[in-house]
Amino acid sequence: MGSWKGIIEHYRSRLEMDDDSPVVSLGEGNTPMIFSERLSERTGLEVYLKFEGMNPTGSFKDRGMTVAITKAVARGAKAVVCASTGNTSASAAAYSAKAGILCVVLIPAGNVASGKLAQALVHGAKVVEVRGNFDQAFEITLKLEGPYPIVVVNSTNPHRLLGQKTGAFEVCDGLGRAPDYHIIPVGNAGNITSYWRGYREYHADGVTQNLPQMFGFQAAGAAPIVLGHPVDQPKTIATAIRIGHPASWDNALAAAKDSGGEIRAVTDKKILEAYRLIASEGIFAELASSAPVAGLLQLAADGRVAKGKTAVCICTGHGLKDPSWAISGAPKPVQVDAQMDVVAQALGF
Ligand code: F0G
Repeated sequence: MGSWKGIIEHYRSRLEMDDDSPVVSLGEGNTPMIFSERLSERTGLEVYLKFEGMNPTGSFKDRGMTVAITKAVARGAKAVVCASTGNTSASAAAYSAKAGILCVVLIPAGNVASGKLAQALVHGAKVVEVRGNFDQAFEITLKLEGPYPIVVVNSTNPHRLLGQKTGAFEVCDGLGRAPDYHIIPVGNAGNITSYWRGYREYHADGVTQNLPQMFGFQAAGAAPIVLGHPVDQPKTIATAIRIGHPASWDNALAAAKDSGGEIRAVTDKKILEAYRLIASEGIFAELASSAPVAGLLQLAADGRVAKGKTAVCICTGHGLKDPSWAISGAPKPVQVDAQMDVVAQALGF
């Protein structure tokens, strides 16, 4: 028993940790895996939503960041840098603040949700808005590491992927087995790579007896892996996955192929519908996080998944990071005078 101390303490033996390095943690991991009655009913599967928005900075990035920052500090780093569509920068900023080191973030100007930008700023990161897209900011970030004393904490940093595989361990620990279908959004493709590693590790060690089929979903306007070529001007309302040159492209393809799954695309319209659908069941996940739900519905409609099986969708980030979509699509609240009878009348009582 005892309180949860974060993924490094919980899965230490699987994370290549030196026992004497101080751990930089904000208590990440142990996120809820919520049974979805509505999605289960609609698809005939047993559907769970792993709500990664419940991590300390509101996204799955914290799993990788606790390991990346812990390892960077152990090596004496005083500064880290990342390019980001928003969540990586929010997480890097928070864990750097906890460690007392400098965090530099490069973000595509005008294409990061305001909540994510607020997070980077409030934690004291040095924020550089690049006039370009994520892919261009990422290319610059990688070039900074050689000549300058700064560690890149994007998912090309192997410690990020190490930490993120703990999501797969938690899914298996929660279900008592691996799911039949694992469904996840794909941007730079690090997370699908990590999950597949995590599932294979548990399987190889005999913790689980089965492996899931891995289904990754890109937004249709930013679907380089599905198209088979890079996309120089990716377009989607799901800005978190607005990426045209994914770094872990080959690993994502291998995860899908080796598991009998696929990388597919969903339209922005379907993403928005899925966003509202899970919100109507109490889960406020950001647009990119709704892509796997749209994906599940697509798989079910295509008969690609079998009824009675178990599916886990990874809802990667919290909807509060970008409330504009929630507000713009909802009816405007009525405004009334501060009198009980007027309120009652407005409610139709
Ligand atoms: N979902 C959310 C909410 C994300 O923020 C990201 C990536 C993904 C899914 C895709 O994960 O890149 O491992 O395939 N966000 C990165 C960022 C790119 O900078 O925050 P991936």
